[in-house]
Amino acid sequence: MQHILSTKQFLDTKILNQLFNSTQKLQSLPLNKYPKPLKGRIIATLFYEPSTRTRLSFESAVLKLGGSLLSTENAAATSSAVKGETLEDTIRVVSSYADAIILRHKDPGSAERASLVSDVPIINAGDGSGEHPTQALLDLYTIQQYKHKIDRLKIGLAGDLLHSRTLHSLLYLLSVYNVELYLIAPSDYQLGKEYLEYLRSTKTKFQIINNLDNCLEDLDVLYINRLQMERHLGKSKQPAPSLTTSNIGLLKPEAIIMNPLPRVDEIAVDIDKDRRAIYFAQAKNGLFVRMSLLQQVLSAAPRLQKQR
Ligand code: NCD
Repeated sequence: MQHILSTKQFLDTKILNQLFNSTQKLQSLPLNKYPKPLKGRIIATLFYEPSTRTRLSFESAVLKLGGSLLSTENAAATSSAVKGETLEDTIRVVSSYADAIILRHKDPGSAERASLVSDVPIINAGDGSGEHPTQALLDLYTIQQYKHKIDRLKIGLAGDLLHSRTLHSLLYLLSVYNVELYLIAPSDYQLGKEYLEYLRSTKTKFQIINNLDNCLEDLDVLYINRLQMERHLGKSKQPAPSLTTSNIGLLKPEAIIMNPLPRVDEIAVDIDKDRRAIYFAQAKNGLFVRMSLLQQVLSAAPRLQKQR
């Protein structure tokens, strides 16, 4: 696998189990015992949109595996994009300085565009309201870790289904399993047509729910995400689903509550101490899943081309 652009590249339980196993192995190692397969490799993080966890966990993963970094945290404001350089030109150049590029950009499809001109692997760290494959892989890993299975789970995906790239990537992965999905959002933020059609084409069981309280008691997993206000252009007004100290009583004692973070007001802060709230552990898993993915991608990639 050269690039990681979409979770559609991972629609195979064998590949996913391999990723779970290699991640689990890394996670069980003592801190000073990590392998160093990235020694001598340089990884660029090119982020045109804000990020905390994704960029820092990727950078930590690179360093733990012995690699070095070229880092831009605000490429939209500080790279030559400001001067009008196209993404393609930037990628052509950066791909001659680094062994892989981790890219976050506001335009859906940007990671794929980058992959067409890059000499080195591109890892999609979020392309607008498109996809966020590495987040969804860590989400899936977390479900497996806590529930010890994915088949036969009732999984609620709640929040801004229209714009949430983490949810888009996750529902592709979940379609590989025999799950029941609850798509929980008011009409303004319901899942887009393309994704609904995909779910239908894979015969994944799903239902559309407007009100979170109507299905909370059914769920084994509640994955809830903030309204992606930066993609709304000021037009959305409907209240989003939220988990509060009053409706959490409806959720089963053994259910888990997930959120890709950042959390805004979709989960009350008081819920953090509930043992079902696992979103900080979920974020921590991001480090190990990304270590595992970097290992895979870079073991297949040739070293930086020699200077001509
Ligand atoms: C997500 C993103 O950037 O899409 N954050 C993340 O990477 N953990 C979710 C979000 O911003 O709501």
